[in-house]
Amino acid sequence: MPEELHMSGGSKEERYAGLLPQLRAVLGSESDPIANMANMASMLHETFGFWWTGFYRVVDGELVLGPFQGPLACTRIRRGKGVCGTAWERGETVVVPDVDKFPGHIACSGESRSEIVVPVVKEGEVVAVLDIDSRELSTFDGVDRHWLEEAVALL
Ligand code: SME
Repeated sequence: MPEELHMSGGSKEERYAGLLPQLRAVLGSESDPIANMANMASMLHETFGFWWTGFYRVVDGELVLGPFQGPLACTRIRRGKGVCGTAWERGETVVVPDVDKFPGHIACSGESRSEIVVPVVKEGEVVAVLDIDSRELSTFDGVDRHWLEEAVALL
């Protein structure tokens, strides 16, 4: 794994910009989507030190926990439920600055304060979501949205 993954300096933009080519290189040599989700979760988590970073996959009409980094999480989420199910239903990224103000937020961990969920779309269908949680309020904004959408397009 490249040493630069553990860099702590630089702006958020610089870190994402540095990470994207590394993700492209690592994922480009593997075709299995679960292996690629696992490495993407790891690389994002290590680079930014998020609280929880991982995927839920659409399996038989619900979201099922996939590769992740961080503490134990809920295993199944229905369409339209929580931040993840909402991003799936809308087919668009949902940024939540304060999870206590998001009606229906599913608290897998009482430590989470803010969250972003980015759908993974294949041939027009949401096949998974990338969910990232932070222990601080308002961690995620349009910069994360832009780069994380670029990242999941590599899957
Ligand atoms: N908070 C999410 C549930 C997944 S955990 O954060 C890992 C939600 O409301 O959908």
